[in-house]
Amino acid sequence: MNKKITAAITCVGGFVPEDKLTNFDLEKMVDTTDEWIRTRTGVEERRILKGAGKATSDLVVPAVQDICKKRGIDPNEIECLIVATVTPDMTFPATANIACDKLGAKNSFGFDVSAACSGFLYALTVGATLIESGRYKKVVVCGADKMSAIVDYTDRSTCIIFGDGAGAVLLEPNEEGYGLQDSLLKSDGSGCQYLHMKAGGSLKPASIETVTNKEHYIYQEGQAVFKFAVRGMADVSAELLERNKLTGADISWLVPHQANKRIIDATADRMGLSHDKVMLNIQRYGNTTAGTIPLCLWDWEKKLRKGELIVLAAFGGGFTWGASLVKWAYDTK
Ligand code: UT7
Repeated sequence: MNKKITAAITCVGGFVPEDKLTNFDLEKMVDTTDEWIRTRTGVEERRILKGAGKATSDLVVPAVQDICKKRGIDPNEIECLIVATVTPDMTFPATANIACDKLGAKNSFGFDVSAACSGFLYALTVGATLIESGRYKKVVVCGADKMSAIVDYTDRSTCIIFGDGAGAVLLEPNEEGYGLQDSLLKSDGSGCQYLHMKAGGSLKPASIETVTNKEHYIYQEGQAVFKFAVRGMADVSAELLERNKLTGADISWLVPHQANKRIIDATADRMGLSHDKVMLNIQRYGNTTAGTIPLCLWDWEKKLRKGELIVLAAFGGGFTWGASLVKWAYDTK
């Protein structure tokens, strides 16, 4: 009898640009303080992709190259690249297509997933089904955002949070039960009103007026999003544990979307998880939207042990939210 195929994460890659934007830099740009930003969000600095002609695909490519190098594979072995992003290089074609070309991944098809901060979890779940189907052996899932392209650096309520970066995972078939165990994904379009970009889509194409009115930047009602995020991320994580008959004690790590440290703390508390089991890098990279979860895995890869159960959880624009349960597949030497 054929054994059940699961989608194991077999390698993690990442990339953050060199240029840092610190809270002290922001103090000179808007009416804010390092103290306010640190205590209200947990962010200390973020990375910014600078340079003309640089786009989200330039974050994706080095993250995927990192995987190829570490796993010892050629880009031509990748069969599918899924890029989760809300800051695609262009409205079309997909950033995944552009990245495949830059990578020289000639045998890969690719597409983008638009689910804001939950994009990586959505893409991971879709990528895993390709592996579980038995038809694909190497699928790369990348979360990448060049948030600096859509941040208004005169708006102190948003510019303090976001940064640029990309993280990626390689999914391969496993017959011993490692990898993605379960995903609980949700969305509610009525949340659009609280977090969106007003213009540039088919609803309101770009015009001189939309540019003048600064409608190509992130619009966020922070307090409202915060309330939904605390409840959404905590509830979905608790529900995922419950339906898998697990408690916080069974979980080695929570890998949360890095939007605000206070949201992360609330989720850990709800899961009954001590805070030393929570991956946190918001202080160094800020909120890189689809990039946060794989960037945490990238930073923590060496600490993860084969067989450990980890929960990935996110909440973001859409609204979209969700949690995934992963059985870690390898030890890093
Ligand atoms: O990742 C996608 C999903 N996004 C999120 O999950 C973000 C969720 N929201 C948040 O993280 C928080 O709402 C923010 C960090 C965006 C804002 O923090 P807050 O504690 O909700 O602040 P607030 O909007 O309630 O503002 C409190 C006060 C206001 O002043 P008054 O009206 O009380 O005098 C703001 O004007 O803080 C003021 N304020 C600031 N002060 C200094 C807002 N931004 C700043 C700032 N520096 N950067």
